[in-house]
Amino acid sequence: MRASTRKIALRLSRISAVASLCLALSTNKVDASATIARNTYLNNTACRFLPGDSGWPSSEEWQQLNTSVDGRLIGTVPVGAVCHDPTYDGAACELLKQTWSLPQAHFNDPSAFMAAYQQNASCDPYTSRPSPCLRGNYVSYAINVTSAADVAAGVTFAQEKNVRLVIKNTGHDYLGKSTGKGGLSLWTHHLKSIEFLNYSSEAYSGPAIKIGAGVQAFEAYEAAAAAGFKVVGGECVTVGVAGGFTQGGGHSMLSSVYGMGADQALEWEVVTANGTLVIATPTANEDLYWALSGGGGGTYGVVLSLTVKAYPDGVIGGASMWAIFGSIFSIGELTLPGATKDEVRTLLAPFTSYLAERNISYQLNVTSLPSFLEHIDRYVGPLPYGTIPSAQIQGGTMVSRTVVEKNNAEIMAVLRNISTSSQFYVAAYALNVSKQPSSPNALLPSWRDALIYYVIPQFWNYTIPFEEMAEQEDFLSERVMPPLQAWGSGAYMNEADFQDPGWKQNFYGENYARLKRVKRTWDPKDLFYATTAVGSEAWEVMGDGRLCRA
Ligand SMILES: Cc1cc2nc3c(=O)[nH]c(=O)nc-3n(C[C@H](O)[C@H](O)[C@H](O)COP(=O)(O)OP(=O)(O)OC[C@H]3O[C@@H](n4cnc5c(N)ncnc54)[C@H](O)[C@@H]3O)c2cc1C
Ligand SMILES: *[C@@H]1O[C@H](CO)[C@@H](O)[C@H](O)[C@H]1NC(C)=O
Ligand SMILES: *[C@@H]1O[C@H](CO)[C@@H](O)[C@H](O)[C@H]1NC(C)=O
Ligand SMILES: *[C@@H]1O[C@H](CO)[C@@H](O)[C@H](O)[C@H]1NC(C)=O
Ligand SMILES: *[C@@H]1O[C@H](CO)[C@@H](O)[C@H](O)[C@H]1NC(C)=O
Ligand SMILES: *[C@@H]1O[C@H](CO)[C@@H](O)[C@H](O)[C@H]1NC(C)=O
Ligand SMILES: *[C@@H]1O[C@H](CO)[C@@H](O)[C@H](O)[C@H]1NC(C)=O
Ligand SMILES: *[C@@H]1O[C@H](CO)[C@@H](O)[C@H](O)[C@H]1NC(C)=O
Ligand SMILES: *[C@@H]1O[C@H](CO)[C@@H](O)[C@H](O)[C@H]1NC(C)=O
Ligand SMILES: *[C@@H]1O[C@H](CO)[C@@H](O)[C@H](O)[C@H]1NC(C)=O
Ligand SMILES: *[C@@H]1O[C@H](CO)[C@@H](O)[C@H](O)[C@H]1NC(C)=O
Ligand SMILES: *[C@@H]1O[C@H](CO)[C@@H](O)[C@H](O)[C@H]1NC(C)=O
Repeated sequence: MRASTRKIALRLSRISAVASLCLALSTNKVDASATIARNTYLNNTACRFLPGDSGWPSSEEWQQLNTSVDGRLIGTVPVGAVCHDPTYDGAACELLKQTWSLPQAHFNDPSAFMAAYQQNASCDPYTSRPSPCLRGNYVSYAINVTSAADVAAGVTFAQEKNVRLVIKNTGHDYLGKSTGKGGLSLWTHHLKSIEFLNYSSEAYSGPAIKIGAGVQAFEAYEAAAAAGFKVVGGECVTVGVAGGFTQGGGHSMLSSVYGMGADQALEWEVVTANGTLVIATPTANEDLYWALSGGGGGTYGVVLSLTVKAYPDGVIGGASMWAIFGSIFSIGELTLPGATKDEVRTLLAPFTSYLAERNISYQLNVTSLPSFLEHIDRYVGPLPYGTIPSAQIQGGTMVSRTVVEKNNAEIMAVLRNISTSSQFYVAAYALNVSKQPSSPNALLPSWRDALIYYVIPQFWNYTIPFEEMAEQEDFLSERVMPPLQAWGSGAYMNEADFQDPGWKQNFYGENYARLKRVKRTWDPKDLFYATTAVGSEAWEVMGDGRLCRA
């Protein structure tokens, strides 16, 4: 095989190093907003109402909403309620505790979400049974969405009653974008339709898959395999394809061959802030199409379905590796469509020779499996859910090929420092998504020049005090990320540090101004809010979690 002439999807992940020092930086963050007297904004529609406010909708009004959505309004109860009095249930709590760090504890529930910092220990299996289950940052109500009419009823109600609106699909969002204190959530999880099409448009003619907004990657992968196709989706197989993944960019094991998630989008079915159902394609409502394809979830409208490109299934070469040098190096998975085992070994030969010459012992496993689904099951499975934890804090940055060529030593020094002086580890994805998509989209442009995408995570430890983990989050933002960001060219909005002060530039780059104009067109009253979403600077979260106009 002439590797240099093939499109290669090479992913190096979990280059991990065991950290030895425990550094906790104490910060004295004074939340000035907390001192604002609560009643100064009680009747002020500059802030969204919270339960208990005189302006909060009456139970009759909620019942009217419930009637208009055919009884699909849910008064939410945090999932962790089974671990606290008076709703304690020992067996259910124990079960929940075992999976709390994993997606499956959260994605089937209307109000649960995975961002550990934003969970704020308000109601979880690790706090004591007698401590109350507080609502904290959980939404108060959710509509179990089945149709455009349900969404229209929800957006109209939230707008008229000045209630914070949230869109939740699976709740994977690391930045807490799929929750909001006291909110009304549009819960898209049950929109599970899957349909295969022969799509034909100016930009693309070929096989496509139309998925409901609630379809998760494992469902899309399974359906595609059964029909003889493969599709671009996340490594975490429980992430929603049409939600945050494609809307935020979406990197996949197949991205070096087919592009990012956003590059697959052909057609969006969307309910806009005024309750209107529209179709957005490269030639119809093209500004909305452009923004939804990479410009961020929960910002421009409520997606009901997405049509994406599908590709013929076939053999996938793969590899994983462990090597001990310094501390530990590992390749979680390498993906090489079409390759035999020998071709995978040949591709890796320069690297394995390098290790051999230095007497570095390593274990390399190579595969060539008949379908993408089997490859997925082998490397990020077992299906259906996989085992990748969701409870973590992290920062990340893409580094361009030019910068790596010029400054590799400096970058390595920064990474070595992170892995030896902090409790964060270093994960890296090697990819090439430089190819322009068939239609322009709002993907962060620096993805196109990226050679490596670094993620700097730390798993959330629920057994230590919340404050210590919160300090780690500040330490990440203030000390760990800046030296690496100096070499980076932006961050992936879905896996970034939510405290990044440079979020506008880093998450959206030169697209920000245009995205803001699109938002103004489709959501002129700023109904949709999510932390670090385009337009979110118009809002401020106050000390009590209330959302107010800045
Ligand atoms: C364990 C784990 C592994 C991951 N692995 C990958 C990976 O390999 N590649 C990758 O690219 N990303 C990965 N991610 C990040 C993932 O893409 C994001 O968390 C993404 O936002 C999840 O989208 P969701 O719709 O499933 O989740 P949610 O948290 O429900 O939603 C995310 C955002 O999208 C918005 N949204 C959801 N549905 C809709 C809708 N129908 N209309 C409008 N807005 C909507 C929400 O409001 C929110 O802002 C991973 C995340 C986790 C937790
Ligand atoms: C808020 O409005 C309600 C009626 O809408 C009124 O009864 C109440 O006095 C107002 N409260 C404040 C603090 O202005
Ligand atoms: C909405 O109506 C359904 C059906 O009557 C009921 O089961 C549900 O509890 C109601 N929701 C709320 C929030 O009252
Ligand atoms: C967590 O809850 C405390 C009150 O218990 C509040 O002061 C703080 O602002 C909350 N933090 C977040 C991130 O929601
Ligand atoms: C949501 O609606 C689906 C049908 O669309 C139903 O199967 C499911 O049980 C409902 N979930 C809840 C929590 O109401
Ligand atoms: C698409 O076209 C091919 C070739 O004509 C045909 O075999 C296939 O059944 C079509 N698929 C769908 C979903 O219509
Ligand atoms: C390689 O395969 C063996 C046997 O299945 C397994 O025990 C080992 O963990 C694998 N190593 C890697 C790096 O995947
Ligand atoms: C590797 O090991 C061989 C045999 O033990 C030894 O001759 C050689 O010098 C070693 N090379 C390095 C780089 O350590
Ligand atoms: C090394 O990392 C620590 C955080 O772990 C940071 O405080 C320090 O400034 C870094 N040093 C350099 C030289 O980057
Ligand atoms: C990256 O991909 C593009 C095409 O998609 C290709 O032209 C280019 O050579 C690739 N770069 C490298 C370094 O492989
Ligand atoms: C959490 O922290 C405790 C106390 O430092 C430690 O014993 C435990 O191993 C940690 N758990 C994880 C999953 O890191
Ligand atoms: C809804 O918003 C769109 C885009 O802003 C606008 O074109 C349309 O006229 C609006 N429809 C109604 C009924 O207000």
